[in-house]
Amino acid sequence: MSSTAKTKTSLESLAVAARTHSHSPYSTKKVGAAIEFSDGSIATGCNIENASYGATVCAERVAIWKRLSEPSNSKTKLKIKKIVVAVDEKKPWPPCGMCLQVIAEFAEPKTEIICTNLKGENQTYTFKDLLPQAFKKTFL
Ligand code: THU
Repeated sequence: MSSTAKTKTSLESLAVAARTHSHSPYSTKKVGAAIEFSDGSIATGCNIENASYGATVCAERVAIWKRLSEPSNSKTKLKIKKIVVAVDEKKPWPPCGMCLQVIAEFAEPKTEIICTNLKGENQTYTFKDLLPQAFKKTFL
């Protein structure tokens, strides 16, 4: 786990840009995510809220589902290499528990999760830091 303030990488810029598309009239919290996959592809997403509240989807899951629903040239299964989550909050936000469970399906223990805010503050975790005992298909 590390905490730094540094120049934005392009994945971070994509996450910051993705948050501008957020549909968040209820919380007014705009979240953006940019995800790099093992085949080098990148997907972005933003949170999309719903009047039912419960049907709201987080930026991370939108990005994962966008990519996973598209073709891949990769011969091996797509894995998540790196995730950036961007918010405009005092402290960067980590992915919620539901997103971590979805991330678990495609992550490796060393998958990097970089949480950032518009002040450029970063908190970097590995997937294993955030969900060390992930429920995965190996249990089934
Ligand atoms: N949200 C995300 O998009 N990602 C997270 O990991 C945490 C929460 C969204 C959901 C909701 O639209 C708003 O932030 C407030 O919870």
